[in-house]
Amino acid sequence: MKIIMETERLIIREILPEDLEGFFEMDSNPKVHIYLGNNPLTNIEQSQKMIEKVRQRYVDDGISRWTMIEKATGDFIGWTGFTKMEETINNRTGYHDLGYRLVEKHWGKGYATESAIASLDYGFTKLNLENIYAVAAIGNTASINVLEKSGLKKGEIVEAWGHDHYWFQLSKKDWMKL
Ligand SMILES: CC(C)(COP(=O)(O)OP(=O)(O)OC[C@H]1O[C@@H](n2cnc3c(N)ncnc32)[C@H](O)[C@@H]1OP(=O)(O)O)[C@@H](O)C(=O)NCCC(=O)NCCS
Repeated sequence: MKIIMETERLIIREILPEDLEGFFEMDSNPKVHIYLGNNPLTNIEQSQKMIEKVRQRYVDDGISRWTMIEKATGDFIGWTGFTKMEETINNRTGYHDLGYRLVEKHWGKGYATESAIASLDYGFTKLNLENIYAVAAIGNTASINVLEKSGLKKGEIVEAWGHDHYWFQLSKKDWMKL
């Protein structure tokens, strides 16, 4: 098992097959998917396929989302970190997108922000990225707050997956001034 990094309260590691139950609990919850196209998963095999896809992307892209584990309990919290964006958004593709998704019972504890701040540090210092990008649906206040609290700058409204999203961006130069 590869541990990517630790924060005060989280272990951030590669996604493993043993995360299956946690992923399905998270992604079968309609509330988790309100701003993600309202299409929650209905079958645990969909989570299994997603885990396999992410693990293949570690091999093909050298990067993909990571699992967050709560240090105090060992609980699966959700995923965080980067993916190389497959879709074209705001005329860009293949860029490093920062994202996160949490099991509902762990919302509101600051975990998404804690993981986003750690991911930015990893992206700029370990991956040597010049820019990190993110999108959040325009009504997704929680996610917008996470990105702004982590230092990303809110930009224009762009279309992604058929809905309006805010485009977020942070350069390494601006990150170093935070
Ligand atoms: C969005 C999400 C990741 C936020 O995770 P979280 O760990 O609860 O976020 P944090 O606790 O770090 O909260 C960040 C800020 O947003 C605020 N916030 C959290 N939920 C909120 C809500 N529903 N409405 C308004 N503000 C909210 C928090 O108060 C906090 O600000 P504060 O520190 O000034 O109080 C989580 O709600 C989630 O998994 N949602 C479903 C999936 C999703 O939408 N992912 C993002 C896609 S872009």
